Amino acid sequence: MKVPYQIQNLEQYHRNYQKSIENPHEFWGDVATHFDWHEPWNSVVNSDFSNAKTTWYEGAKLNITENCIDRHLEERGQQAAIIFEPNDPQKPSQTLTYQELYDRVAEFATVLTNIGIQQGDRVCIYMGMIPELAIAVLACARIGAIHSVIFGGFSAQSIADRVIDAEASCIITCDGAYRGNKEIPLKPVVDQALKLCDTVSEVVVFKHTGSKIEMSPGRDLWWHEQVNEIREAGIPWEDPASVDAEHPLFILYTSGSTGKPKGVVHTTAGYMVWANYTFVNVFQYQSNQVHFCTADIGWITGHSYILYGPLSAGATTLMFEGIPTWPDAGRFWDICQKHSVDILYTAPTAIRSLMVFGDAPLEGKNLSRLKVLGTVGEPINEEAWHWYNEKVGNKNAPVVDTWWQTETGGVMISNLAGITPAKPSYATLPLPGILPALMDENGNLIQGNSVSGNLCIAKPWPGMIRTTYGDHQRCIDTYFSAYQGYYFTGDGCLRDENGFYRITGRVDDVLNVSGHRIGTAEVENAINMNPQVVESAVVGYPHDIKGQGIYAYVILNKEVTDDEAATTLRVQILETVTQVIGPIAKPDRIQFVSGLPKTRSGKIMRRILRKIAEGELQNLGDTTTLLDPLIVDSIIKGKL
Ligand code: PRX
Repeated sequence: MKVPYQIQNLEQYHRNYQKSIENPHEFWGDVATHFDWHEPWNSVVNSDFSNAKTTWYEGAKLNITENCIDRHLEERGQQAAIIFEPNDPQKPSQTLTYQELYDRVAEFATVLTNIGIQQGDRVCIYMGMIPELAIAVLACARIGAIHSVIFGGFSAQSIADRVIDAEASCIITCDGAYRGNKEIPLKPVVDQALKLCDTVSEVVVFKHTGSKIEMSPGRDLWWHEQVNEIREAGIPWEDPASVDAEHPLFILYTSGSTGKPKGVVHTTAGYMVWANYTFVNVFQYQSNQVHFCTADIGWITGHSYILYGPLSAGATTLMFEGIPTWPDAGRFWDICQKHSVDILYTAPTAIRSLMVFGDAPLEGKNLSRLKVLGTVGEPINEEAWHWYNEKVGNKNAPVVDTWWQTETGGVMISNLAGITPAKPSYATLPLPGILPALMDENGNLIQGNSVSGNLCIAKPWPGMIRTTYGDHQRCIDTYFSAYQGYYFTGDGCLRDENGFYRITGRVDDVLNVSGHRIGTAEVENAINMNPQVVESAVVGYPHDIKGQGIYAYVILNKEVTDDEAATTLRVQILETVTQVIGPIAKPDRIQFVSGLPKTRSGKIMRRILRKIAEGELQNLGDTTTLLDPLIVDSIIKGKL
């Protein structure tokens, strides 16, 4: 299947870009004609940034799973839709053809309807990276239920917070998951979470590890029993729901600069078009290729580039349950060889963690099928970029550095593999439809090249965030208020002499640890829950593998004098953070301090704490406005 809107050369990129900016109605109207709709749209785009109101394809009706599955059946019924590579390399991999995926999704969608889930209901999904996770997500979309996938590493408290915010009535989970040499309990964490919230009336449990779990009668249902029930009763499969273009497809929680994660809402038609368009263009996907995105479906990358992008394009998408370094650091390369992977999409953190092992794990691995390599989630340093390009791609596979966010739904700034030029550590040029704008501190637009500023987007695009669930004002305040008439990304950015963009990192109080977004306020809240903590301040610092590490300055309610007590306390604080958020938010360093550098109005001067954490102890800038300038000396003295 040749996709008519796939850009074939640089000249065509420039032409399409121009048209998309000058006439978005025609441009995105044309692209959308290549999808299946129940009803056509009345207008392609309507947008009012001041109220954070944008609609795409208003008036249209569709079902996204028909576009991801049903429409491929005739041509690709027997082609693999999903290849599942289990954590344990000794266990067989599984393949679901498009026909099998259709059957399983349609059947499970019927199960959901049968247990009372209706269009618009929120369903949280807390599972490991197994095919049933994909099936659960797609089954929700098929009946018009709004899915909210919660990353399997989040704690009971984090699940409860999300369930409460989304007012979810159902959770789909599994008994446990495998990650490397660990078996991770999932259902027991859901049980704990449900002690903290009471909206959930059904928990559907898929049996994966076979570990012993509690099932609460009347609330907990086995996946396989529910499937058997509709089979035995001969209940016909549910027809796909016909939903409005702007019907919410999913909520995905992401960290911001406040302590409470936001529920980013994406709607159906615009998100579908954007995930598909960016997939076929950035990766230059060709028919029958195998696409391996190593992200977890609990993050936006997994939503857009394991599920909706590849499946809407009729691709074969590979789901991997495990981790890159188990049983050894050659696991990714074994998978690429075993499943003849054409496109590999991963995070700089993963690349850096594999570089540490040198070239040996790559030796003898046949990676000649690899045609495109992608990175996402954080800035990639030049060294990692070159290693990826040379050692993994053998300089034969273009590297695409894709910049985007949970809120943007799909890639915004990236080279198009082999079509537009690459530049190490640069995301390079915007996708069609994306008009980047750099702003200075005073809200003025920065014109010209060789400049840097805060990155905004000046025009609506199909995959953009529509609201923050349950609190639209928060969406306006966070994204559309800093610069009138612009979407503000929260990222700093430079534009080089050729107009290429390089994302330099967050300019707000959000950390990017191993490609995961973590709010400093969230980590501080968690640390402060430890009864011995009075106050804390969290900042990021450069970390060789994770990109950024978490550095916590902590004031205790009584001084610790011996090392042993300090170590015990550190361990306890780490446990508190794990319980409140999850292991991903654990600080790498904890320094006990007697005070924090605050202004007279009580604001913590993080700039100073950041410099100390970075080891830059000389040029701390102006400290005269501090309430107690001497505190800085004592923090420097106590630095680890
Ligand atoms: O700071 C940018 C960074 O990751 C943030 C978005 O995080 P999240 O919503 O979790 O989505 C990650 C996957 C899309 C951005 O604000 N970021 C993402 N991609 C890049 C990046 N920074 C530099 N280069 C990138 N390619």
